[in-house]
Amino acid sequence: FAGDWQFIWASPSIETLPPMQGLEVAFAGRSNVGKSSLINALTGRNALARTSHTPGRTQELIFFEGPEAANFRLVDMPGYGYASAPKAKIASWTSLIHNFLQGRSTLARVYVLIDARHGLKEVDQDVLNTLDKSAVSYQIVLTKADQVKPAELAQCRIDVEAGLRKHPAAYPELLVTSSRTGAGMPELRAAMIKLIGE
Ligand code: GTP
Ligand code: MG
Repeated sequence: FAGDWQFIWASPSIETLPPMQGLEVAFAGRSNVGKSSLINALTGRNALARTSHTPGRTQELIFFEGPEAANFRLVDMPGYGYASAPKAKIASWTSLIHNFLQGRSTLARVYVLIDARHGLKEVDQDVLNTLDKSAVSYQIVLTKADQVKPAELAQCRIDVEAGLRKHPAAYPELLVTSSRTGAGMPELRAAMIKLIGE
């Protein structure tokens, strides 16, 4: 994972995606859950993906290419479930997300991010249902673990694991992360290195 990560492509719609090549790993989740921050923490590049305190920052599918040259890409996605965005934007992001997750043969894994303070919501279930219909492997990542007490984190784990029972296609194991402290990054990097090697 060490090395030169760079931005290669941004796509506001499903018609303008980059050619399918190599392997892709995408990060999905509600607005503000910490998708872009996680990409920065993983790659060790502070400002590779644009982040913001306010939801709705990432508005396109953003592709980053790794040190493995053209063979491995990370995909930052717009967030879903941001109720205050204009209705037309919500509709276009939602269809972009669902279409991409279902119809991309280079997509090797999707990490679905869940804020450890908020747990699994209805809009997350919608995305998990879409992933169940696609052949892609997916796993839940709890984010912002630095913001909750150990007891709250334990409760969140129990609740999310219960919500996952409806989704046997998901990895049963959750990854617990914090982009602020770096917790969980070695595990996530190792999982992706394993994926590249398969
Ligand atoms: P959208 O692109 O708007 O969907 O958001 P996003 O999911 O990409 O979230 P982003 O990475 O922009 O982070 C949103 C806010 O959460 C920012 O203020 C981040 O600094 C903060 N944040 C992200 N990860 C963490 C974390 O692990 N711990 C803490 N404390 N804050 C975090
Ligand atoms: Mg973002």
